[in-house]
Amino acid sequence: MNTGKVDVLLGLQWGDEGKGKVVDVLTPHYDVVARFQGGPNAGHTLEFQGHKYVLRSIPSGIFQGGKTNSIGNGVVLAPDLFMEEAKELEKSGHDLKSILHISKKAHLIMPTHRILDRAYEAAKGKDKVGTTGKGIGPTYTDKVSRNGLRVGDITNGFSDKYAAHKARHMQMLKALGWSDFEGFEEVEQKWMQGVEYLRQFQLVDSEHELNNLLRSGKSILCEGAQGTMLDVDFGSYPFVTSSNTICAGACTGLGVGPNKIGNVFGIMKAYCTRVGAGPFPTELFDETGAAIRNIGHEYGAVTGRERRCGWIDLVQLRYSIMIDGVTKLIMMKSDVLDSFETIKACVAYKLKDGSLTTELPYEIDDVEPVYKEFPGWKTDMTKFTHQEQFPEAFNNYVKFLEDYLETPICIISIGPDREQTIVIK
Ligand code: GDP
Ligand code: IMO
Ligand code: MG
Repeated sequence: MNTGKVDVLLGLQWGDEGKGKVVDVLTPHYDVVARFQGGPNAGHTLEFQGHKYVLRSIPSGIFQGGKTNSIGNGVVLAPDLFMEEAKELEKSGHDLKSILHISKKAHLIMPTHRILDRAYEAAKGKDKVGTTGKGIGPTYTDKVSRNGLRVGDITNGFSDKYAAHKARHMQMLKALGWSDFEGFEEVEQKWMQGVEYLRQFQLVDSEHELNNLLRSGKSILCEGAQGTMLDVDFGSYPFVTSSNTICAGACTGLGVGPNKIGNVFGIMKAYCTRVGAGPFPTELFDETGAAIRNIGHEYGAVTGRERRCGWIDLVQLRYSIMIDGVTKLIMMKSDVLDSFETIKACVAYKLKDGSLTTELPYEIDDVEPVYKEFPGWKTDMTKFTHQEQFPEAFNNYVKFLEDYLETPICIISIGPDREQTIVIK
């Protein structure tokens, strides 16, 4: 339904909430899906009809019958990885060239950005962020310091621009004492092939295109990557990514005005996970954490790394909802808790001085979570088809979350498949 506004869908925790699945589920209600930030650090998983796909830079609206999918200016794109991802989809019969539009203002991740990512991480030693190694930080750094290379540059004096940027990066790597360039030529060659491949796509002024579509009555869903706690301004800095993952990122990453934002769908797991380093107040180091990891298959879609697991953190979620202006919540992976005796939710933090707070403080390294316990529902819900089947204990948990977070839950996901989705009336 078109309301003259775009809807935004984004993660409220530390990423991997299940954004890809839900964008796919919601796409039939929209004409356009537009990704607004991040890059191949993202891994958005979709499952339907026995197939599983992991998307990195390509929006999650491509599987729902020829809808327009747009990669916005806020995204950083690695041509070689993009080519790999798109060709894999072509092999399975999904031709993207007619439906995928790419902003000329999106920035390119160069092979040297990926080396810089590794070099900066190595220089940080034990304080490293635990990045995905995809060159995200260095590419956004170049963008902000006005040194970036953009998609639009591939049609205009590209070789010279590339050479100048590469030379600058090599100087920086030299200053960092970096000497590992193994396999670089091969990577660079593939990257150049990726640039040629990129030329076959519709490279557009996506800010004009999206606003014109909106004016002509089309409906648009904006897809975020990562999660609010990885936002460069409001996340658990410095253990964050290098973009604005919050709702405002849809404005800057697509060129839509703040008065054009309609519904903001905030996605959360029924528990919480994080990959990489950094604070995580409700992290569990015991067998409960291990059980969540095993049942929820909590391993990174991009790097295969073990995801850290813990209970849902309502202090953190309330903060994200505030920053993002969330209007509707979507709860994912509740099925992972189906067999638990007891389920906990963090409702406050105890600070070092012994006081309690429900406002996310500047430092969350040494806060102690205060939990409320709920009896588990102990019911396999993965084959349920409507909300009337939910057991009472589950309804009580959901009601508590909605009341505490002061936001309605509109979808509950009970398994990875497209079909395992319950829309709440
Ligand atoms: P994204 O980055 O936010 O798109 O999330 P990821 O794809 O990285 O991680 C979510 C993982 O959970 C994927 O493996 C999904 O297939 C899976 N998933 C999504 N929703 C559900 C659900 O409701 N239950 C279960 N068990 N798995 C889910
Ligand atoms: P999706 O879109 C989970 C994390 C990394 C690291 C930090 C910085 O699938 O939810 P970067 O490579 O971005 O410089 O890494 O951010 N990170 C993610 N964690 N899901 C993601 O994306 C992530 N993208 C980056 O693990 O801690
Ligand atoms: Mg992911």
